[in-house]
Amino acid sequence: MAAIIVVGAQWGDEGKGRVVDRLAAQADLVARYNGGDNAGHTVVAEGHTLRLHLVPSGILYPHVTCLIGAGVVVNPARLVQEMDALAELGLDIGPRRLKLSAAAHIILPSHQALDGAREAARGQAALGTTRRGIGPVYADKAARVGIRAGAMADPEAFARSVRHAIETHNDLLTSIYSQPPLDAQAIAAEFHEYARRLAPHLTDGSALVGEALATGRTVLCEGAQGTLLDLDHGTYPFVTSSSPVAGGALTGLGFGPAYVERVIGVAKAYTTRVGAGPFPTELTDAVGQRLREAGGEYGTTTGRPRRCGWLDLPILRYAARVNGLTELALTKLDVLSGLEVLKAAVAYERNGERTQYFPAELGMEALALWRPVYEQWPGWAEDIRDAHRRSDLPTAAQAYVTRIEEQIGLPVTFIGVGPEREQAIVSQ
Ligand code: IMP
Repeated sequence: MAAIIVVGAQWGDEGKGRVVDRLAAQADLVARYNGGDNAGHTVVAEGHTLRLHLVPSGILYPHVTCLIGAGVVVNPARLVQEMDALAELGLDIGPRRLKLSAAAHIILPSHQALDGAREAARGQAALGTTRRGIGPVYADKAARVGIRAGAMADPEAFARSVRHAIETHNDLLTSIYSQPPLDAQAIAAEFHEYARRLAPHLTDGSALVGEALATGRTVLCEGAQGTLLDLDHGTYPFVTSSSPVAGGALTGLGFGPAYVERVIGVAKAYTTRVGAGPFPTELTDAVGQRLREAGGEYGTTTGRPRRCGWLDLPILRYAARVNGLTELALTKLDVLSGLEVLKAAVAYERNGERTQYFPAELGMEALALWRPVYEQWPGWAEDIRDAHRRSDLPTAAQAYVTRIEEQIGLPVTFIGVGPEREQAIVSQ
């Protein structure tokens, strides 16, 4: 009878897939609520490693129904590609298991071209987007000129809409950005085929979620990106164009807050960010490099090296407030093993004034005036990847986790101590 929301507490890539994977075993419906194929998570199935960008990782559990919700933007080529890869592994990706909300919006190649052209036009001020068309497709959605997945129910009419949209985008590409036009007719023909393939998966997503909740089933809401990439509550304009925060699960899936039982904020034991924008605890020295290598901090979607830095507790406090977190999941604690000293930002200061919360909403200029205040703690040398209980951890690692709980005022119910599914300390 409950909705569980899994949300990124930092700038994305916190390891939400891990946490979703674990909880999906007990869920009936796993529903992705925001973003598009800018997200990426790696799943290991049947000895194969797959990088999924759209299909919820719950697909690996045969009893789970998966929904791509209304708040998601879908690149049909990518979705079909992922479905084919999953089918090759013998997984059931039929329309009874994998559902696509009719209200989700469709990403066109011209959205991707516009994303690239706008980034190029920004020059030094580029946002560092994934160039997957995310900004332009959400802009079309807000401008009420987008194409919704439900249009695929009539492949001919859908193809006509695609053609018309590409022609409109071509005007922008050629006249404003001096880019070559795309072949509207060829793309329309390609999208006609995607529509034929995907139409059977279309559903009323809100009805599906509502019925599951009303009949006592568990709905796991899977967020993409993270709190500080939220369009409203992140470090604007260095954000994505959707609502990764917990509220985005309600609007992106279409159900009410009374059903929400748990809101799990996933955070790395340190901080990373891909793309441009402020990152006050960033480490550009050897320690940052070490975190990148030890943590394999290269983007799943773009392969870009992630910027790495110390844990930022004001960010986690901010995430706790904005999302109404009930608990924290801490991932990649093992990456910190071997560091003699660990630092974490515990507050921010500006002209003698202190704040406990990351001042994300005040804007870039205001944020630039605030400086992180650090505390430092002893590290640990031991390999912790075989720890199954908290008491198996070295004292310094236990103290690190306890301090986070005390500072944020939330329990840490999951600790990732290694990349394998079983390398985790779970207390709920
Ligand atoms: P966009 O979502 O492609 O428009 O990119 C906007 C910003 O969000 C860029 O800084 C991206 O690097 C970042 N971003 C988008 N998706 C993810 C993600 O899944 N993980 C981490 N960063 C992301």
